[in-house]
Amino acid sequence: MTDVTKLRDQALAAIAGAGDDAQLQAIEVEYLGRRDGKVSRQLLAGIDKLAAAERAALGKQANDARLAIESALAARRAEHRAAQLSNIAETEAIDVTFEAPPLHRGHIHVLSQVRRELEIILSRIGYTVEEGPEIESDWYNFEALNLPKGHASRDVQETFFLDANEEVVLRTHTSPVQIRAMQRIGTPPIYIIAPGRVYRRDNLDATHLPYFMQLEGLAIDEGLSVGDLKGTLLYMVQSLFGPERQVRMRPHHFGYTEPSYEFDTMCGRCMGKGCRSCGGQGWLETGGCGMVHPQVLRNGGIDPTRYSGYAWGFGIERIALLKYDVEDLRLFYENDVRFNRQF
Ligand code: DAH
Repeated sequence: MTDVTKLRDQALAAIAGAGDDAQLQAIEVEYLGRRDGKVSRQLLAGIDKLAAAERAALGKQANDARLAIESALAARRAEHRAAQLSNIAETEAIDVTFEAPPLHRGHIHVLSQVRRELEIILSRIGYTVEEGPEIESDWYNFEALNLPKGHASRDVQETFFLDANEEVVLRTHTSPVQIRAMQRIGTPPIYIIAPGRVYRRDNLDATHLPYFMQLEGLAIDEGLSVGDLKGTLLYMVQSLFGPERQVRMRPHHFGYTEPSYEFDTMCGRCMGKGCRSCGGQGWLETGGCGMVHPQVLRNGGIDPTRYSGYAWGFGIERIALLKYDVEDLRLFYENDVRFNRQF
């Protein structure tokens, strides 16, 4: 009888030492095989010589041994499977059980989207994109635009100077690109836009930023008039906001244009009637514009007796703000993904 118990202990030791499922399979056949298994043979070999009561005891012992071996095999197989799974990242080229991280695709920032939209709109009527440096000389930023030192309108623009002599500045507007474009292109026709970053010593709040984006437009040709300017602004505004929006021009003063205007876009909420979002005005201030001053043409090397021009400029943030109903300019620069993802 103790032979069965011995067999069981041998089998359990073999199972404990088995390295893989193939070895477990071999052990199972060796001990529990129906005809040739050691437990079965031990049982058959002894059973004839025994009395009925002892037979039953041997049968029970053999059966207990079989159950013990089977459950040890099952436990060991489960251990192997768990080890395999925990190893899968190293053993399999592609771990199909691994949960993929959520996919967040980046996209173009809302201000770049608006800038690109403006570039596309204006390129359709023949404007090309011109660039100028953000670090400018006093001459391009002020002098050449009829804003001599001490001129009142210089005070309006809070300038970041980069040197003690105040000759090098962070450009306060994109208007200096007008002069650079005239110099680069030379002979009209000139139809350019110049989008880009500008800098002002403004305190940061919901409606002021120390740097922001502007878009400058300049057209120089023979026989251009205020009508052409107005038509261009109307085309631009209606392309951006829809054909029902009108443009209004109010007399203003800029050194580099004569006559000069500020232009407004009809409020989209009340269509000019006046409501809360336009402060009862019916119109939303959009930018500045005018006919290029003859002296500015001369400064750019263009003959004002032969050519005339118009120019306009505005803040891109302001357009984005009107387009998307954003209430605080700072949101455009905080880069909170919860804000950025909305556009
Ligand atoms: N440079 C002006 C500003 O920064 C905007 C402007 C006004 C641009 C009139 C122009 C213009 O081209 O003609 O506020």
